[in-house]
Amino acid sequence: MTVDKEWEFDYDEADFEAIRKRIFQAAGIKLGDSKRQMVYSRIVRRLRSLNLNSFQQYLGFLDQQPDEIELFINALTTNLTSFFRESHHFNSLSDMLTERHRQGQPLRIWCAAASTGEEPYSIAMTACQTFKSLTPPVQILATDIDSQVLKTAKMGVYAESRVKDVDIDLKKSYLLKGKGEREGLVKVRPELNRLIQFQRLNLLDSKWDVAPDLDVIFCRNVMIYFDKPTQIKLLDRMVPLLAKDGYYVAGHSETIDREYRALRLVGKTIYQRQA
Ligand SMILES: C[S@@+](CC[C@H](N)C(=O)[O-])C[C@H]1O[C@@H](n2cnc3c(N)ncnc32)[C@H](O)[C@@H]1O
Repeated sequence: MTVDKEWEFDYDEADFEAIRKRIFQAAGIKLGDSKRQMVYSRIVRRLRSLNLNSFQQYLGFLDQQPDEIELFINALTTNLTSFFRESHHFNSLSDMLTERHRQGQPLRIWCAAASTGEEPYSIAMTACQTFKSLTPPVQILATDIDSQVLKTAKMGVYAESRVKDVDIDLKKSYLLKGKGEREGLVKVRPELNRLIQFQRLNLLDSKWDVAPDLDVIFCRNVMIYFDKPTQIKLLDRMVPLLAKDGYYVAGHSETIDREYRALRLVGKTIYQRQA
């Protein structure tokens, strides 16, 4: 059955099902029925750039070319983010950093779905504000499965419209305004970049290159794409990476079951590791 004859390429139920299955296997992302059109418009770009004639051909290509999987994943991730999204988390982060700071030991934060970088840079700005320094005792690991968004994140260059809601003092302190050809853009100060290590990491992979004893994990607005068993499996692996009494920050719709004893709710979608 062809879903819509108006479309440039035939796209039927079997194509959608096959793509759903592949992205679930590769990234744990569960695509609901409502994503049919979204899948078409995202994957069709891959067909065009590879000069392929059908979704079936593309699926065959995906099976034969291991490198294509990365681009396939990039095409299907949803990367919506913003500076200081869920701003209450950053007020709390400042308190956490103050509470957990020990002389001579950097605080370690893992931002586990960093997308285009607004979240790790908001963490870095919060750290600079908290310690009133451009070199606060903080190390941030920012990871994402999507290699394309990580490139944007590393560059730290954004359209001014992306920072329109950022506090004016923060903008003055941490963002450089583009001039001439770069008019309309802002660049994050290099000192903030230096606080962050960007790394591609698929949360579904059996091994993560993340050292334990983390003070805070930001894992926001990514668990929603996974099914319940995957969410629990990931939590069971993340919590042991936290130091004693370390914090786990979830997205607004990612409340963790009260029955999950390893974490205790201590704020609005903020949890603390339990002994
Ligand atoms: C909606 S964004 C959330 C960004 C940010 N954490 C925030 O709350 O603003 C979700 C991010 O999760 C990433 N993601 C999806 N599946 C992933 C996986 N299996 N491993 C790591 N990151 C994944 C996507 O690439 C995307 O950048």
